[in-house]
Amino acid sequence: MNTDKVDFRAVPDSGVTWTLLGTLYLRAWESRLPHPILGDHYAAEAVDRIDYDFDKLKRRVRPESNQFLVALRARQLDDWARDFLARHPDAAVLQLGCGLDSRMLRLDPEGTVPWFDVDVPEVIDLRRRIYPERDRYRMIGASVTEDGWLEEIPAGRPVLIVAEGLLMYLTAEEVARLLRRLTDHFASGELLFDGLAHWTVRMVKLLKWSPRDGRDVERMNPRLTCADQVPITAHRDRIPIRRYRAIYQLMHAVPALRASSVDYRFTF
Ligand SMILES: C[S@@+](CC[C@H](N)C(=O)[O-])C[C@H]1O[C@@H](n2cnc3c(N)ncnc32)[C@H](O)[C@@H]1O
Repeated sequence: MNTDKVDFRAVPDSGVTWTLLGTLYLRAWESRLPHPILGDHYAAEAVDRIDYDFDKLKRRVRPESNQFLVALRARQLDDWARDFLARHPDAAVLQLGCGLDSRMLRLDPEGTVPWFDVDVPEVIDLRRRIYPERDRYRMIGASVTEDGWLEEIPAGRPVLIVAEGLLMYLTAEEVARLLRRLTDHFASGELLFDGLAHWTVRMVKLLKWSPRDGRDVERMNPRLTCADQVPITAHRDRIPIRRYRAIYQLMHAVPALRASSVDYRFTF
């Protein structure tokens, strides 16, 4: 990681780009627990490098309670990703809407695995100042809804596609088109992403799409088969603080709340 301070004060505190600071901050916060679920110390190092009004962000994202949401979600996706990479040492990884996530460093795959992180150009410009490119690691500044960027990625390997905290910001038409382009470009692989409950999408203006369940996505793209769909509350036992474990236990018992954050794994 680079070491000089990076000025994020110009990032507007509305709009989708801002959200990457929220998830980064929550992961950094969680990494400081005595027994973290994810323990993303790279996030903590990145936060230390960023010049931003984190007190204001803290009031907005309420890390004491929300840290578990991002940690449980990311941990499940990391576990699936590790499992895929263990089964496919000849794989390539494509992460969409990467923000300032450190998954590439957390998983640290074999030197032979090429890894591509994609986000909009203004985010990739900031990201490059925190995480340097290295052998077999490339960042691509493009909107996933645009044409062109996917053709830069070689198609000959089994691919692991991770889209965490991204698809809910796209319309259903944009998601369908993106998934079609991905399954047309790559012959085989797995797609990991998280979905929110339908009611959250109706309530929050920035959010646009959420699958009702894995079948919804299979109907959207018949090349995809849902292999797993896991509400993050399923892993509530990993929460190291009893009070929050109890809250997640309650959430798990209520279907509408259990659906509020679900991790999906698809094969194709
Ligand atoms: C909630 S953040 C998640 C970031 C990261 N995956 C994480 O978990 O910390 C959403 C990310 O999606 C990116 N994003 C939103 N729309 C995008 C698009 N059309 N193309 C590429 N990236 C997009 C944003 O710039 C932002 O980095």
